Amino acid sequence: MKIDIDGGQFIWLESTDSTNDHAMALARDGAPAGTVVAAETQTAGRGRLGRQWVSPAGLNLYFSIILRPGLSARDIPLVTLMCAVEAAGALKASTGAEVKLKWPNDLLLEGKKLGGILVESLLKGNVVEFVVAGIGININSREEDFPPEVKDIATSLFIASSRKHPRAPILKSVAESVIKGAEALAHDGPDGASEMLSMWKIMSATLARRVRAGDPGHEQEGVAMDLDENGMLLVKKDSGEVVKIISGDVVFL
Ligand code: BTN
Repeated sequence: MKIDIDGGQFIWLESTDSTNDHAMALARDGAPAGTVVAAETQTAGRGRLGRQWVSPAGLNLYFSIILRPGLSARDIPLVTLMCAVEAAGALKASTGAEVKLKWPNDLLLEGKKLGGILVESLLKGNVVEFVVAGIGININSREEDFPPEVKDIATSLFIASSRKHPRAPILKSVAESVIKGAEALAHDGPDGASEMLSMWKIMSATLARRVRAGDPGHEQEGVAMDLDENGMLLVKKDSGEVVKIISGDVVFL
């Protein structure tokens, strides 16, 4: 695949273990912000929380973008939310799909998982030297292409629209939007992220839902109320106490 990415360099691989690993290695060697690494298939695609991201050839998008937003370590969650907002906006613009967001990193279509974001970074002290934003989007998978354990919770643009979608224009649109979003974060700093957080809230499928959220063994149950200024999820428990969720997963109840 050959794509001209506005603001970045594009690397296409027929096969790799994980585009995140490939991009991390390039970033360590000094590859510039805006470098996009995409693969036809991944042999060891990874999701959050140690999960596998099954990545068959010829169907979907698997790519990673090197970003150098110059933030501090505590601002990294904002990068995940920014990627989700930009990916959802770009998918709407390029395909018309009404993508909703599940905190912190899921792209949902009609309530099922259309894609996910895996942000990894290298820190120098408290400063983020670079971030690799890995994005997987299910484009043309049919139900039978998903592993049995995700068949019921995953979807694709093909499943939702009953038509095949060309992948290159979607990749270009999402990658360019994420690069622009990272430039805005770098320019405005974490204090300037309020507009992005407002967009996240508008696109949210999470807020106002009853959820169980947090790290395994430390989950909190209640209503997802809001995001704080750092992108953490605020959950109101039945007792009325509001707790901050900083990592882990959200389950809709
Ligand atoms: C998740 O939902 O848990 C995140 C999934 C991220 C998958 C993408 S595919 C491209 C990049 N390479 C990987 O190994 N993972 C990300």
